[in-house]
Amino acid sequence: MAFRGVFIAVVIGAVLLVAAFMINQYRPPVVTEQPTASFVRASGKCAECHANQQFSVVHEYELSAHARKGINCLDCHKPAERQLSKEHHGFVVATHLTAANCRSCHEAVY
Ligand code: HEC
Ligand code: HEC
Ligand code: HEC
Repeated sequence: MAFRGVFIAVVIGAVLLVAAFMINQYRPPVVTEQPTASFVRASGKCAECHANQQFSVVHEYELSAHARKGINCLDCHKPAERQLSKEHHGFVVATHLTAANCRSCHEAVY
């Protein structure tokens, strides 16, 4: 009796595991191949909401050299040193952007 229960549990467990791997295969590369969790969250989540809020901002971003190079929303909108920040739907963003937000990548121009 007890063996039968365990056997069924193991079979169900194995099937779920295989199903999870198969589903994972179908996730788009942009979701699975990004190097950091923050990239995945920032590239997906900011755009997801803001495509409804300010379509033009997201569209402009999509056309940009930054998008082509994989620079995400948070790379610019995260607070630079000594900047005021705020909680924004699960992210921490700078209240106001300045040239300091570009500095990390454009030191020479800065
Ligand atoms: C759950 C939906 C949602 C997510 C996720 C989200 N936003 Fe927003 N965002 C909004 C809404 C709604 C507004 C307008 C009202 C407000 O200020 O909250 C807004 C406003 C803003 C503003 C306008 C300036 C301001 O302070 O009012 C900026 C900039 C901004 N979001 C950037 C971002 C960035 C960058 C990310 C990702 C790191 C992000 N948002 C993620 C919904 C979202
Ligand atoms: C290259 C840096 C950069 C990237 C990448 C970037 N932004 Fe911005 N964003 C800015 C700057 C600079 C401003 C202007 C801030 C200001 O005027 O205070 C701005 C302004 C905004 C605003 C406010 C517009 C308004 O009506 O005042 C929103 C919303 C916003 N960005 C959302 C996003 C979202 C969503 C993404 C990603 C899809 C993104 N940004 C990517 C630099 C960037
Ligand atoms: C996380 C890194 C990063 C941040 C932050 C960043 N940039 Fe860039 N930026 C890049 C990269 C990478 C390129 C592409 C360079 C290339 O193609 O040679 C680029 C290109 C550009 C270009 C040239 C665009 C074109 O069409 O050729 C401008 C202008 C620019 N950035 C302005 C800004 C401004 C303004 C900010 C701040 C609001 C900013 N960047 C923040 C990485 C960044």
